[in-house]
Amino acid sequence: MSLLRLPGLIDPHVHLREPGGTHKEDFDTGTAAALAGGFTAILAMPNTQPPLTDAASLGLAKLAGRSKARCDYALFLGAGSENAETAGAQADQTCGLKMYLDQTYGPLRLDDLASLQAHVRRWPAHRPIAAHAEGKSLAALILLAAQGDRPLHVCHVSLREEILLIRAAKERGQRVTCEVTPHHLFLSELDAPAIGPGRSEVRPRLATQEDVNALWDNLDVIDCFATDHAPHTLEEKDGPKSPPGFPGLETALGLLWTAVRAGRLTMDDLVLRMHTNPRRIYGLPEQPETFVELDGEAEWEVRGAELHSRCGWTPFEGRRLRGRVRRVVLRGRDAFEDGRVLAAPGSGKDLCS
Ligand code: DOR
Ligand code: ZN
Ligand code: ZN
Repeated sequence: MSLLRLPGLIDPHVHLREPGGTHKEDFDTGTAAALAGGFTAILAMPNTQPPLTDAASLGLAKLAGRSKARCDYALFLGAGSENAETAGAQADQTCGLKMYLDQTYGPLRLDDLASLQAHVRRWPAHRPIAAHAEGKSLAALILLAAQGDRPLHVCHVSLREEILLIRAAKERGQRVTCEVTPHHLFLSELDAPAIGPGRSEVRPRLATQEDVNALWDNLDVIDCFATDHAPHTLEEKDGPKSPPGFPGLETALGLLWTAVRAGRLTMDDLVLRMHTNPRRIYGLPEQPETFVELDGEAEWEVRGAELHSRCGWTPFEGRRLRGRVRRVVLRGRDAFEDGRVLAAPGSGKDLCS
């Protein structure tokens, strides 16, 4: 068995659903899933119930993290239409400001230009603004970030036009970075029927094969691979109003490592996008004595029922992958070994507090 040693992976885009949606996931199960997937730090999204838009709601999530997280984490503050004046006061308690410019899951959404401008202008420049912004919204936001001279991180890029827009902004010297999800790299709209009508719902939607190809062709523009782990229960996904979102923490490394073996990217490409760049973009502290041992040869079949995530399903059901996480060591302690999560709830650290 050949074991490869990787640095602790960092996922800059995870939905933990706490507070308010713990039947889908919570700090305990979400961080267990992270460790099983080789992640030692995750950045958690603010579209919870209530959304994390002020000190009180942020405090609820921080309290849950402190007692339940098994890996390290940091929280985003959410940009709402009412909190542009006060958001900045929370900046140092968070890894960044998350804004939703398009319809996704939950009520957190910025529709009007005035509050968008106010957030961009007022949010402190030393923490990134991360955005769910598709198509025309992305073009608008790139302009506002340039005018405000703010670092912008574009979440889950999925379309050819979007990745080319980001390339052009980077080439002009703008401080813009971006992430792409494994599901937008390894699935297209053609896979939706097999996944099922409700289960294949995700935002941004699964795109055309041309879009998928454009992401691969522009790998040099992609700063991070981020899962956008967005768990919903099977009952919800298969119900009448299927909420969008896929779990992804436990399949990301296997998918990407399998692509390394196939010669589609290198090991260095992977480590840059799953450790070095997320850490640099969000200014996260180093995790000392932290690493992952990957059995690069091991072949396995993805099964939703075996995942640590509470949601219990995956859009990659049945896919055969290479590369199994054997051991995760976090700050000198065994956190995961051979399928078992060893890190206790509450042992994870808030990296931005
Ligand atoms: O598919 C998605 N699900 N896209 C988002 O932007 C939100 C996420 C969620 O929170 O479920
Ligand atoms: Zn999103
Ligand atoms: Zn998301």
